[in-house]
Amino acid sequence: MGTGSEGESYVKMRESDDRDARIYMSLKKIRKKFLVMSGKGGVGKTSVSVNLALALANRGLRVGLIDVDIHGPDVPRMLGLKDKIKDNIEQRMIPLHYNENLQVVSIESMIADGNSAVIWRGPIKNTTIKRFLGDVEWGELDYLIIDSPPGTGDEPLTIAQNIRDAQAIVVTTPQEVALADVRKSINFCRQMNMDIFGIVENMSGLDCPHCGKRIDLFGKGGGEKTAQNSNCRFLGKIPFDAKLVVCGDHGISFQEKYADTAVSKAFQDIADKMIKY
Ligand SMILES: Nc1ncnc2c1ncn2[C@@H]1O[C@H](COP(=O)(O)OP(=O)(O)O)[C@@H](O)[C@H]1O
Ligand SMILES: [Mg+2]
Ligand SMILES: [Zn+2]
Repeated sequence: MGTGSEGESYVKMRESDDRDARIYMSLKKIRKKFLVMSGKGGVGKTSVSVNLALALANRGLRVGLIDVDIHGPDVPRMLGLKDKIKDNIEQRMIPLHYNENLQVVSIESMIADGNSAVIWRGPIKNTTIKRFLGDVEWGELDYLIIDSPPGTGDEPLTIAQNIRDAQAIVVTTPQEVALADVRKSINFCRQMNMDIFGIVENMSGLDCPHCGKRIDLFGKGGGEKTAQNSNCRFLGKIPFDAKLVVCGDHGISFQEKYADTAVSKAFQDIADKMIKY
């Protein structure tokens, strides 16, 4: 049935009496934890997670990136990571190393065939997320960034319940329909007592490649307005840039290749806020 048995054997259901203790010990070695979330898919959660992780790592900080989006685990693809995650002799997971400062674990990197449709049942999903929180051999980390699937389902719930000091970064696009979903994310955080670090407005305008004029593809300023109305910090606007799509598809670091663009600056600006606040 699907890849259930494969997932199961890898996950190695260990008796979980001491699991909470392992999660506690592991999280204690991480200074700041961020959960990147959104109401809708396709708004750029994974792009934001990956690029903020890169921006922080480029500043010399030790960053861990966890991908718990089982239905769209795009993090390894965006970073060009093809290896599988292995356990060491103590059954601790060895994360993938993007560079000296950035380490990654992803559901994608645990299944044998990257193309197989992953049918993960709730309990396996939950166990795997908990392993990501308690059983990864990161060493010490300054920042942990968690990319989650859209909405307020099992994955953000498990994170919110297990990382009591996690802060949410809510990603949205500027138009009204997207903003209704942002409010749901905000309500979820408030119900879970999870701090909201702030709201990011992605795909916010496009500089015409021909004349340089700003085009507001999806309207303008909706994320900023929602942040004001709901008393959240507004983290910034990231413009639309077609080069980001190409980089994402080919596992190229946008910020290395296009360091001088408005998009790179926007990500660096948000990373600075993550350092400062
Ligand atoms: N600011 C942006 N400019 C251009 N393309 C973007 C931008 N943000 C995201 N994308 C593209 O949109 C698609 C969806 O983004 P992704 O980060 O996978 O969203 P999500 O994780 O929310 O589903 C990807 O192809 C990505 O490259
Ligand atoms: Mg995604
Ligand atoms: Zn033009």
